[in-house]
Amino acid sequence: MKLLNIFLKNFRNYPELKLEFNPNLNIFIGENAQGKTNLLESIYFLALTRSPRTASEKELIRWQQSNTLVSGVLSRDIGKMDLEIQLSSKGRKTKINRLEQKKLSDYIGKMNVVLFSPEDLELVKGSPAKRRRFIDIELGQINPIYLYDLSQYHRILKQRNSYLKKDNIDEIYLSVLDEQLVEFGSKVIEARSLFIKQLEKNAQALHQKISHGKEELSLEYQTQLPISNDLQKVYLEKLKHDRQRESFQKTTLTGPHRDELIFIVNDNPVAVYGSQGQQRTTALSIKLAEIELMKQEVGEYPILLLDDVMSELDNQRQIDLLESVLGKTQTFVTTTTLDHLQNLPDALTIYQVNNGSLSVAASE
Ligand SMILES: Nc1ncnc2c1ncn2[C@@H]1O[C@H](COP(=O)(O)OP(=O)(O)OP(=O)(O)O)[C@@H](O)[C@H]1O
Ligand SMILES: [Mg+2]
Repeated sequence: MKLLNIFLKNFRNYPELKLEFNPNLNIFIGENAQGKTNLLESIYFLALTRSPRTASEKELIRWQQSNTLVSGVLSRDIGKMDLEIQLSSKGRKTKINRLEQKKLSDYIGKMNVVLFSPEDLELVKGSPAKRRRFIDIELGQINPIYLYDLSQYHRILKQRNSYLKKDNIDEIYLSVLDEQLVEFGSKVIEARSLFIKQLEKNAQALHQKISHGKEELSLEYQTQLPISNDLQKVYLEKLKHDRQRESFQKTTLTGPHRDELIFIVNDNPVAVYGSQGQQRTTALSIKLAEIELMKQEVGEYPILLLDDVMSELDNQRQIDLLESVLGKTQTFVTTTTLDHLQNLPDALTIYQVNNGSLSVAASE
């Protein structure tokens, strides 16, 4: 899939911007703090209705303004579609072909993006919450039902946790909540576990290639519940078994919100024992695997956003990355200099980014 153009209104440091994109490769060059990352962020936001770098959405609205708008035309095998997202103090509004989409799961997934950024190492080294978020975002892009089940799960979990904080707990009411929690929680666990297996298959092959056969990567979805046909039954029993402990701690102790994803390289968790280089290779393999998995599941390659990553990668990893994506995906790259970029293809557009405005520097 390709993003043909974009329109920004009061997004970050862009008062207004209208741009046509190259279907192959787009490079944004500029000094620091000119708006390169902001532009990639707007593309990510258009696809996923959230920012990859802040949970506080109002930061996206240009200072002194009250709302922002991002829109663009996406071209997919089935045809073109207009995507639009508006954000104001009242919240966000999403539209496909000018029709408002009330449910997030009806909007997300139309445009698939994969972002590489210097923070990717956090996927390997950061907290379990980061890895759960990674699964939720990536799986949500290819499976809208998952997104729905996950939102139901979080809704019930929140309800159950606040109920556990009450002094007088009605056991019958709690067991109704338990049943709902188990229904959606099981679906979330099962979908995640399958996703991890599929991701592992792709990542394994890529990791082997990048490490020249020296390293074997495996992925493990860790949950306190055994994934089997009895999942719902065992889950419910576990909640009953933990009743006293949960009433005492006033929170839900078991479920997908506590699960973990472990990356293992040559039999050891790479977050703990891996070298910096092994951790980098792992992050790169996972991201590249995601691209392949999206192609398998959606039928089209996602759009690729590479924020400042070329300078972070050594030459060989740069070549690995570019070789595996160019020609397949529409790619957006930000950089402060072209020096790091090697083996560039012919079909590309280079834009100069200067304090919230853009000009085409070269196009072929
Ligand atoms: N809501 C906002 N309204 C106006 N300007 C903003 C807003 N949010 C951020 N900015 C401005 O955007 C600039 C940062 O832009 P961005 O992160 O895209 O820089 P960059 O070109 O990627 O730089 P670097 O090369 O350092 O990564 C900051 O200088 C900040 O002043
Ligand atoms: Mg930047």
